[in-house]
Amino acid sequence: MSSAFLQCIDDRCARRYPLNAKEHQCPACGGLLDVQYDFPSILGGIDAPALRRLWQQRKSGTAITDQSGVWRFRELLPFVPGGAEVVSLSEGRTPLVDVSRTGEWAGGVRLAIKHQGNNPTGSFKDLGMTACITQAAALGSRVTACASTGNTSASMAAYAARAGIKAVVFVPFGKISTAKLAQALEFGAVVIEMGENFDQAFQMLRDVTEELGLYLVNSLNPFRLEGQKTIVFEILEQRDWRMPDYLVVPGGNLGNVSSIGKGLGELKQLGFIDKLPRLVVVQAEGASPFYKMIATGATEIVAVQPRTEASAIRIGNPVNWKKALRALRMTDGLCESVTDDQIFEAKAALAKDGVGCEPASAASVAGIQKLVRSGKIEDGADVVAVLTGHQLKDPEIGIKRRSEREMAQQRLHVEADIRKLRAALESVVLQSA
Ligand code: F0G
Repeated sequence: MSSAFLQCIDDRCARRYPLNAKEHQCPACGGLLDVQYDFPSILGGIDAPALRRLWQQRKSGTAITDQSGVWRFRELLPFVPGGAEVVSLSEGRTPLVDVSRTGEWAGGVRLAIKHQGNNPTGSFKDLGMTACITQAAALGSRVTACASTGNTSASMAAYAARAGIKAVVFVPFGKISTAKLAQALEFGAVVIEMGENFDQAFQMLRDVTEELGLYLVNSLNPFRLEGQKTIVFEILEQRDWRMPDYLVVPGGNLGNVSSIGKGLGELKQLGFIDKLPRLVVVQAEGASPFYKMIATGATEIVAVQPRTEASAIRIGNPVNWKKALRALRMTDGLCESVTDDQIFEAKAALAKDGVGCEPASAASVAGIQKLVRSGKIEDGADVVAVLTGHQLKDPEIGIKRRSEREMAQQRLHVEADIRKLRAALESVVLQSA
């Protein structure tokens, strides 16, 4: 077996498969698969300090692989076959921004946000998609497919277009934001709208994937997680390798938390870090099967009918729950759930720091507030929250959620008459300035 391979995550099985295996789940036991590496043989004598220096130098490089915030760290995702081309849109390189007012709002933590909305298609999915579509292209795939609440589909459509591969998207009918739908259409994907929710659309897609020879790029695909894990390399580099106490992400299909856990585990194994942050995953209350499983001490997930206005995380049967559980166990992590009202309050708090994001992303910040209130996160803790998607991903809900009072103060329809304009400005703007 070569030095990079697929491996079943179930310890009792742990079977290995070559990287070009067609399956995304263990053919023997149905378990989830990881991409694993024999790092000592791959890295030779290169140690962590040398790699840190190399990654730093690449920041000023002109090659697309150096400019990408994923491929700059390529020594830690060495699965691309020699000669294969990397499919990149210069993803990653997203800002880490201190948000002190939001930190106060959350209960007095030192808070920074890692804004993944600043990616080519506006979400963290681009980190995984560059890896996954690179693999799809290396395998000669003709059609890629995913089920999505909107961001994965936008990202897949863009990267597939770049690679010259056909893209088919399955989304729940009428349940994803227009902005995300518009992205997939513009990048030329075929969009199949079916079912009530993500879980239904995903099940239908999985039923035809093999038969029709589609290349599935949902986060069940372990190559997605290889790209997404680089977020943690970038965060630590931006903090001069100082570990935060907590690293917080919203949870839907639980790919993101799983990838971050894997990245952290590898950094520790390779001597980059000696301590781990506590990983925190926050779900929307109406779509929180993972939270319920942990809160009740159950050993299996029980699917729910998902309900939340944070449409990106409206998922009732998360496929990666075993990997997510592994990540929380490794980091002594936490899981929380928040109501939609709490999500929109967090979004409003971030806005006061000049930071916008889509509703699902604000779940991470809402979760921090709840965990500080219950004493599970201590006052003054050093916290990084991942904001997963751009503010303009879901604008309709933001407007719909504003109260009549806020609207009366902020959105004025004024006749084109100078006296009326003056009166309106005096009453609403000048009096409160
Ligand atoms: N935040 C946003 C903005 C998302 O789009 C998603 C997932 C998540 C959080 C949750 O991440 O699934 O890795 O736990 N969106 C997927 C999609 C499901 O189809 O775009 P996760």
